[in-house]
Order: sequence, then structure tokens, then C-alpha cells
Amino acid sequence: MDTNGQQHNFDFLVIGSGIAGLTFALKAARVGSVAVITKKHRAESNTNYAQGGIAAVMAADDSLELHVRDTLECGAGLCKEDVVRTIVSEGPALVRELVERGVKFSERENNSRDKPPARRAASAKAALAAAAGSLGGGANVGPTTEFDLGREGGHSRRRVLHAGDITGREIERALLAAVAAEKNIAVFEEMLAIDLITTQKAGQSGANRCLGCYALNEKTNAVEVFAAKITLIATGGSGKVYLYTSNPDIASGDGLAMAYRADAGIANMEFIQFHPTCLYHPKAKSFLISEAVRGEGAILRGKDGEPFMKRYHPMADLAPRDVVGRAIDAEMKKTGAEYALLDITHKDADFIRKRFPNIYAKCLELGYDMTREPLPVVPAAHYQCGGVVTNADGETEIEGLFAAGEVACTGLHGANRLASNSLLEALVVAHRAAHVAVKQHSTLSAPASAKATAGKPRSTLPPWESGNAADPDELVVVTHNWDEIRRLMWDYVGIVRTDKRLLRARARIQNLQREINQFYWDYKVTPDLIELRNLALVAELIIESALQRRESRGLHYTLDYPSLQPDARDTVLRKA
Ligand code: FAD
Ligand code: SIN
Repeated sequence: MDTNGQQHNFDFLVIGSGIAGLTFALKAARVGSVAVITKKHRAESNTNYAQGGIAAVMAADDSLELHVRDTLECGAGLCKEDVVRTIVSEGPALVRELVERGVKFSERENNSRDKPPARRAASAKAALAAAAGSLGGGANVGPTTEFDLGREGGHSRRRVLHAGDITGREIERALLAAVAAEKNIAVFEEMLAIDLITTQKAGQSGANRCLGCYALNEKTNAVEVFAAKITLIATGGSGKVYLYTSNPDIASGDGLAMAYRADAGIANMEFIQFHPTCLYHPKAKSFLISEAVRGEGAILRGKDGEPFMKRYHPMADLAPRDVVGRAIDAEMKKTGAEYALLDITHKDADFIRKRFPNIYAKCLELGYDMTREPLPVVPAAHYQCGGVVTNADGETEIEGLFAAGEVACTGLHGANRLASNSLLEALVVAHRAAHVAVKQHSTLSAPASAKATAGKPRSTLPPWESGNAADPDELVVVTHNWDEIRRLMWDYVGIVRTDKRLLRARARIQNLQREINQFYWDYKVTPDLIELRNLALVAELIIESALQRRESRGLHYTLDYPSLQPDARDTVLRKA
């Protein structure tokens, strides 16, 4: 069947099926029809690969205030404190909701492990007490479920709920099961969103409003139209812009690029987080070795076998990620080593196998027994701290358009994200966005409302124009440019930056952009071409943001401006 130009009408359109998209969809479905479009299989997302866990205040010796403080410290002066407080304090109740949806977080086994004094009962009741707003520390409230809480860099307490070392897979499984049981949600797999449809683009006057999106049906190669009163972008991050990344292939920054082209503000893209410990192995495709491994005592060593992190930070191996990433980079450059060593062999082998079953099995498959030998590790691009500007309710600057999860910049992370705060942010912001979107939906649906016709969401939207575009004949242009961007970003816009390298990167990316855009308009769209165009734009936004920040703060470290400027400011870019 030729579905070219087919228009699907829904109350809510969700682009992306990770934790943010699915959380929003489940809540919006209570009042209206929801389309979730996702570009690969529904489970394929960054969420699905999350290892360490989700940070939330659950333990008696922890408090919301401590979680707020750790987040602010890690964010290096750029976090929005009100947003931090909102997300941290609403987290525990929403984690509890995940448990009610069937997410099985690891529980503590009595007497099976060492119990440091900072490690007391973490109960579901404690979570609810904390969520009720008891800033300053909840009481230990008794014998309900006791979750096993992990520790990661920058956290002053154990507060990371996890499901072994496959936390994301477990969350994704439970959310997808809930979605499958919801009759108001239709999931469209292999449906790749190309661009947002806005009133501005459709030539209508008044405030810019989102009306839906164009999407490429990858099964039929038809471009279809999704019309909705409310659209949520939940497309995740952009790790693929770098040659080495922990991210799966879906992370090509599509949502960010679409939002920018639609005139939304994009903030703080210079803050790309490099995860310090990805497995160094040609066949591993940057397999992540969770920070939780260091949380359980693993030590970073140089090629001479000597631990080095104490020389870089008082928290040594549990220093914030930017510090550890730069330390490994510096050690590698100094000694000429191709990797650092991550050593947990001093811990009990049974404990390692049980706590990290996925990491243990994967490393073994690749020839490393982590219970007996240290693992070779290198930093790799991991997380985009900046993104589409939103408030804590996920509202963007465009009416009817929300963004949540890694694609968004709420102000929680500032200049550096605290480990395991991203699943938390995605969960809380998607929940809040759904709450606001549901209210907006009822206003838009009220027959007497003047706003009912404002976005004309149910009318026929302008079809996709492919004009005289031909079938692409030289796909080498796509593969060549794809490789060039990723290498250029790794070499010139990496962990340590200089103006000279950034300016080189800008000149090259501008050339590549010209070539890619011409190719884009001359030929019919393909998934690779759409992603390449987005990747090039995201690269440009990272470079421009990095050039604008004339200081070293958090994840942005430049040899030309090694110190902090007194006034902490966001870098915000807009097309117009
Ligand atoms: P994602 O989960 O990435 O979902 C994005 C969705 O959008 C996908 O379904 C994708 O297919 C879809 N999509 C993208 N573009 C399009 C398009 N054009 N059209 C249609 N669909 C599209 N964070 C933590 O807090 N704790 C951890 O332990 C942790 N571990 C991690 C480990 C790894 C290996 C990685 C890569 C990340 C980890 N993170 C962790 C980060 C965290 O997983 C992500 O930030 C979070 O899952 C993002 O969720 P999301 O819903 O925003 O996006
Ligand atoms: C990890 O398990 O190290 C990843 C945690 C995160 O990115 O928050």
C-alpha cells in the first residue's frame, strides 16, 4: 500500500520510546489517543543500555538536601536550583511508581555483603516519606522492601537504585509491557521523525505552534504525516556525533536538530559528558563499564599498575566524571598508553559476578575475566547535558511542543551531570509534562474554547514536498561525511579543547553542512541521510556553543581559558 502523504491524527504525539517517551505516553493515554513513533524496534534506546541505575533518595542516612547539594556541586554553578529541588524531591515517589509498574530493582540480601555505616535500610516507605518533602533526611521506616543502593562518582551517599547492571533494560521492559496493555496508545516502529510541522513553517501568523511531524516509514520509504494537539520530543541524546561513544546507533541528535530547525532555543551544547570507562576492545563498540564498578571499590591504574586518581581529586576514583575523564586523558597523553586499567580483582569473585552479571559476561566473551585481571578502559562520549530549552514541566518555547529526557535542557545538570541523574530527570520531567499537556489538551478540546481552532490540529496538514528529488545515487557521500564528522568531533572538540581546534572544526563542519544540505534537497530522503543532516547540525551547535564559552567550567575544558568566569551563564543558540 502506498502510504505516502498519509495523515495520522492523534491527541498526543510522542517521538521516542525510551523512559521519557513511554512515561509521558502512559500518562497522556488516560485522557486521549497517543501515537508513539520510534525509529527502530521499540526497545532500542539509550534507556535500554543504562547500567548503573537511577538516583533517588531512599536511605535513612540520605536526604533530599544532600542529593540537591551533590547535584549542584557537580553542575559547577550552572544548575537551576529550583529545577534541581523539584526533580530531586519528586523522584522517590515516581521511582515507587516504577516499582508498582513492575520494575524489579535489586534488593538487599542480608549478610551477603559488607555493610558500611552509611548503608542502612532503604525502604519504599522511606521513598514516600522523602517525596512528601521532608528535606533534611527521612527516618528509617521499617521492614518493607530494602533496595540495594549503589554509589557512583560525585554522590556523597549510596542512592542509586539498580537492577543488577541492566537497570535500563528492566525499566524499558516494564514500561513497554504497560504500554502494550494500554488501548489508547499506538506504537509505530521504524518510523523516523524528519521534521516538526509548525504554524510558522505552514505560513500561519501568530505564535509559533507545533502541529505534529513528518516521519519516514522505513518499511515503505513513504513520508507520512502525524498530526497532534500536543507533541513531545523524547528522542534522547547525540553520542553518535563522536567517533567513540557509549551510545547505541539511535543517538544521532534528531530531536534536537528538529527543534532547532523549528526555532526552539538550544542551550549548553558544549557540555558533552565523556564516560571515563568504556571497554577498550576493537569488537566492543565502546561497551560501558559502569561507574558502579568503581562505586564498589574498583581502582583506576596506569599502565605501570600504579593508582593515579588520588593525584587528581580528594574523592580519588569516585570523583565527578569530568575529573576522572580528564585524568585518564592526561595519563594516556603523558605515558603514551592507549588505555587505563580498571581493577576490581581485590573484591570477592562471587560478589563481582552477582553484582555485575552483564558486564562480567560481556568482558568474558571478549577475553577478559574481570575477577582475575584489570580491564583496559578509555573515555567515550556518553551524555549530552545541554539540549532543547525547557522548564521543569518540559515546556519548550514553541506552543504545543514539549521535550523531556536527554534531548532537553531543564537546568538540572548545569555544566556536568551527576551520575544516574538522567533517568531520574527523564522520569520526573516526562511525568510533569504529561500533567501539563493533559490540562492543555482539555482546553484545546473544549468546544467553546477560542483556542480549539488555534493550531487546527485535526485539519489536513501540508504534505511532504519531495519535489523533483531523485533517488540518491552516490551514497558514499553519506558514509564519507558521517565518518568525517565523527572523527573531526573526536579530534578537535573532545575532552580538552582549544580555540584553534574549535575554529578548525567550525570551518570544516560548515563545508560539510553545505555539501550535506545540497545532497538532502537534491535526493529523496533515506534514514542515513536524515541522521547525517541532524548529526552535522548537532556538531555545529556543539562547536558554536564551545566557542562562545570563554572559560573552563564543568565538562567544557579549554586550554585557552583555563579558569572560571565569575558570572555563570547558559549558552543559548537559536536559528533566527
Ligand atoms: P532514549 O532512551 O535514548 O530514547 C530515545 C528514543 O527516541 C529511542 O526510542 C529512539 O529510537 C527514538 N528516536 C530518536 N530519534 C528518532 C527519530 N528521528 N524518530 C523517531 N524516533 C526517534 N543514565 C542514568 O541515569 N543511569 C545510568 O545508569 C545510565 N547508564 C547509561 C549507560 C549507557 C550505555 C548509556 C548509553 C546511557 C546511560 N545513561 C544512564 C543515560 C540514560 O540512559 C539516558 O540519558 C536516558 O535513557 C535517555 O532517555 P530518553 O527517554 O531521553 O531517550
Ligand atoms: C554508569 O553506569 O556508569 C552510567 C551511569 C550514568 O550515566 O548515569
